[in-house]
Amino acid sequence: MKTTVTPSLKNIAVMTGGGDAPGLNAVIRAVVITALNYGWQCYGIRDSYDGLLAPARYPNGGLIHLTREAVRGITHLGGTILGTTNKGNPFEYPMPGSDGQLQLKDRSDELIAAFKQHQLDVLVAIGGDGALSIAHTLSQKGLAVMGVPKTIDNDLAPTAVTFGFDTAVSFATECIDRLHATGHAHSRIMVVEVMGRHAGWIALHAGVAGTADAILIPEIPYDLNRVVAKIKARRQEGHHFSLAVVAEGARPTAGTVSMVERPGGVKRLGGIGQKVAEELQALTGQDARAVVLGHLLRGGTPTAFDRLISLRFGAAAVRGLAAGHRNVMVALDSPGVRYVPLAEATKQIKLVPLDSDLIQTARELGICLGD
Ligand code: F6P
Repeated sequence: MKTTVTPSLKNIAVMTGGGDAPGLNAVIRAVVITALNYGWQCYGIRDSYDGLLAPARYPNGGLIHLTREAVRGITHLGGTILGTTNKGNPFEYPMPGSDGQLQLKDRSDELIAAFKQHQLDVLVAIGGDGALSIAHTLSQKGLAVMGVPKTIDNDLAPTAVTFGFDTAVSFATECIDRLHATGHAHSRIMVVEVMGRHAGWIALHAGVAGTADAILIPEIPYDLNRVVAKIKARRQEGHHFSLAVVAEGARPTAGTVSMVERPGGVKRLGGIGQKVAEELQALTGQDARAVVLGHLLRGGTPTAFDRLISLRFGAAAVRGLAAGHRNVMVALDSPGVRYVPLAEATKQIKLVPLDSDLIQTARELGICLGD
């Protein structure tokens, strides 16, 4: 391969931040192999930034030298060989205070100093809107950054799609197929709750592909009576089972999103599937069961589509660095990729447009969207 080398660039730091998504390892592999072709070395930071901010935690060091051997055979693996965390924001880093309680401390200057100390010239940050916002703020403090969009939620605005989404949708669709079978056998209402935070991409795509009878997404607040009417109409037609896909961020017209409290008092989206199932059972008199797919959507082998997007993003990230791009994010702009300023990339999340073809298709196929 013929390469043009940016002389000032020698060492690339790579981090994965926030929730994992299938395809992270494929991105890391593509970054490393492409960088080696330019004569650059890559170093993976363990657990987002913890490898630099809390190196003592790692007996073999908080940085992993990403050689060609280190990234061999990982394209198809879920998770991330670097580890990740959604509690490692360097601007609000949890540290024990004098009273033993955790306090949030701004450790961004220390982090930037650690980059200099390790002679890391540029950061490839692979993350969703949270991790990319942090990377953007670090870039405003002088760190050179290249962002790569990751999330199963597909809610990053400037890219046509994020890697991880296709795998999540494929798995959710397979689960819906299975739940159709058991729902049919028992004449039950099956309710499937899927992740996606405040966007309904996973629910809508998997719901349409899995031929759900109802799909409830955050973008369309629902009236459960609509779903009940759909279920009753099906019964009249002789279909004594129904299946509803519910996004974790869905909410009723006269209500709020459903949250669960985790240990430590942290509140997270959750519980809506169970609520909907209980209410549907009460309103229809029909047995209902809820299934939460949750983190199953994040694990597992990336689909071929996600592997390809990941490998393309990883190679494009390094190609962009070679071309002099800094403080941008790689975005899919079919048939190619483009580089979007990080400021723009993290401005707002991408929701399902209500006038989109897929919403229209769902309605035309008779799927109840709760409105
Ligand atoms: O953003 C990815 C995602 O899986 C969301 O769909 C979900 O709401 C959240 O992360 C769950 O995060 P955690 O890893 O904290 O359970």
